[in-house]
Amino acid sequence: MPILVTERIEGPALSALAERMRVVIEHDLWQRPDDLLQQLDGVRALVVRNQTRVDAQLLDRAENLEIIARAGAGFDNIDVSAASERGIVVAGAFEENAVSVAEHVFALMLALVRKIIPAHQSVCEGQWNRHAFCGTELHGKTLGIVGLGRIGTRVAMRAKAFGMRVWAADPLLTKSSLAVTESCARLVPLHNLLTSADIITVHLPLTADTTGLFDYDKFRRLKPTAVFINTSRGGVVKEADLIRALRKKILAGAALDVREQEPPKSSPLNELDNVVLTPHIGAFTEEAQEKVVECIARNVEHVLRGRPATDYVNFPRPCRPAPPQDAKEK
Ligand code: MLT
Repeated sequence: MPILVTERIEGPALSALAERMRVVIEHDLWQRPDDLLQQLDGVRALVVRNQTRVDAQLLDRAENLEIIARAGAGFDNIDVSAASERGIVVAGAFEENAVSVAEHVFALMLALVRKIIPAHQSVCEGQWNRHAFCGTELHGKTLGIVGLGRIGTRVAMRAKAFGMRVWAADPLLTKSSLAVTESCARLVPLHNLLTSADIITVHLPLTADTTGLFDYDKFRRLKPTAVFINTSRGGVVKEADLIRALRKKILAGAALDVREQEPPKSSPLNELDNVVLTPHIGAFTEEAQEKVVECIARNVEHVLRGRPATDYVNFPRPCRPAPPQDAKEK
């Protein structure tokens, strides 16, 4: 069984690949990690989204694995160093869903500042109360983008069309970095961004440095009129701290597409009317999913046919580690 897909991933490119190679798709295998371990014999390519935990234990069982293909841009569910130690290619779709996520940021931003969700609910309840839903314009506001990568830069460019001032905080960039010059964002320290932005949008990977970055202390610095949007990874926000800050009116509202735990348990966030919640759908558009699946199908086929991967985080071809010296001598 060369290709095993452990989550709901579908599209024309995967169907076409299944005509040329044997592909086994089990949409809910990620929920049954013991079964997954049992099915790894002979698997040469593992195709996952963000739910399957690909750790060292799994990799030890996957003796024939040559490539892990991640249908998306975040790699926090994959132990990339463990895969690299075992010579396994880790590939992903780095930019195929960036436009969709950037557009979702604006859907959330406008929903928040124009109070779309409570206004919709009130109309459905038979009311017609225009004064209760007076919002604010995006025009002339300062947008603070935390993480000016592929998605952050696309958010920046779209924000200009709304007439927003764009500030960005990103420790990996300098004023002359392409992302900064092309997006015309003003690069500022995170502290300045937090205290001055009207809207804060987060576009960070989940790493040891970013886990829990947005805690009560950070929220305390925001303007009371500010709104906070996270479409990156739930783990960068301490949800309990955000709830406390929202209840104390330290900030005006929040929109979360991603959560500390997915799917989340019931949460006080569900009861707050200045909150917009979506189920990690930033990348879920027909266009983005088609491109993502095309990208990972291409990478899998390349590697399994002995050609280099085109979109990888470690190396383009599998490289089996050399056997230990004493094993060679025997
Ligand atoms: C990504 O990492 O690309 C997005 O969050 C979408 C996903 O995880 O499926």
